Amino acid sequence: MAFDLQRARQDTPGTTHVIHFNNAGSSLMPQPVLDATIKHLQLEAQIGGYEAFDKANEAIEHTYDAAAALIGCSRDEIAILENATHAWDMAFYSLPFQAGERILTSMTEYASNYIAFLQIARKTGAIIEAIPNDEHGQVSVEALHQMIDERVKLIAVTHVPTSGGLVNPIAAIGKVAREANILYLVDACQSVGQMPIDVNTIGCDMLSTTGRKYLRGPRGTGFLYVRRSVLERLEPPFLDMHAATWVARDRYEMRSDARRFENWETNYAGKIGLGVAIDYAMQWGLDAIWRRVKSLAYQLRTQLSPLPGVIVRDRGIIQCGIVTFTIEGLEPEEIKRKLAEQNINVTVSVVESTRLDMEARSLTSMVRASVHYFNSEEEVGRFCSEIEKMIY
Ligand SMILES: Cc1ncc(COP(=O)(O)O)c(C=O)c1O
Repeated sequence: MAFDLQRARQDTPGTTHVIHFNNAGSSLMPQPVLDATIKHLQLEAQIGGYEAFDKANEAIEHTYDAAAALIGCSRDEIAILENATHAWDMAFYSLPFQAGERILTSMTEYASNYIAFLQIARKTGAIIEAIPNDEHGQVSVEALHQMIDERVKLIAVTHVPTSGGLVNPIAAIGKVAREANILYLVDACQSVGQMPIDVNTIGCDMLSTTGRKYLRGPRGTGFLYVRRSVLERLEPPFLDMHAATWVARDRYEMRSDARRFENWETNYAGKIGLGVAIDYAMQWGLDAIWRRVKSLAYQLRTQLSPLPGVIVRDRGIIQCGIVTFTIEGLEPEEIKRKLAEQNINVTVSVVESTRLDMEARSLTSMVRASVHYFNSEEEVGRFCSEIEKMIY
């Protein structure tokens, strides 16, 4: 069935202002998300925040159902948090580590995750090890197999890195984790919303993501999945009166669901907007979104590659909507600035965000152009002709 691009663009007010190739940074919200978020803020202003919460309770609760339906789990396995980093941290910092225990991670792990590994390694004596890549530049499942022993406490892998089109083989990694009975944490910040995600197919115990990127939700939203059987064993690094109840002077009891990872005060307008964004993505269908995103990114890579001095940097067997490239003799920041003058949005990926990966490739920065289903073939063409102008 043909993709209804016209409707996707009509629903997206931002498409009349910019060519937005920064969907992996923060996408353009569709109108229904914008409306639902603003509506709740207005309600808070009109009748009071607590009263608005009571009135909007159904919409707030719906966000848990929507997130669960999106990734194939149950609503009590979902915690809604303010971003992917906090979601990931709440899972990671719940795990007790001891000296000598091993954390296996990917070469493309995100800086915030790696900083957390370093902090815990310093405090506990746990050991961080990066699983080598295979010849395609993705996590080598074979190498992971070889690394498994009884000291491996956690496998923590980024699905799609911030720095390119790579899609790591997270289901194959999950199979290794399951067979060895090792906890498995997936950072799906850049993948949720651009491709189908199912936690049971992946075989992960925990998965974190954000709202503002490929899900097209409001900023300041994200969520965490924790498998029921694991959740019951984890005590979050901090608890408040929402996550736990003060049942006696010397005792508290944690909630039994994943909301033990949340806290009491939160942005309810954002939470409602996130639910609407998930519903909206599911109306398009994640399979259809994924097909279109891959096809647009493929067109972009194919048109960029032949240009003199342009090197497309994406790796992996399957490549997603994130396209990274460098141009000989032009600084990525300069390219970004010149594109911005034409109302074209991109971002720059820097070594500080994925140090292991970028150092291994001797890169310090790259231009990152990330497409979504509402981008058009004409925009891809326009983008490439602007790049061409910079070269000639
Ligand atoms: C792979 C990856 N993980 C985590 C994050 C952090 O997400 P957030 O900014 O929502 O905390 C990012 C952000 O770019 C990312 O690329």
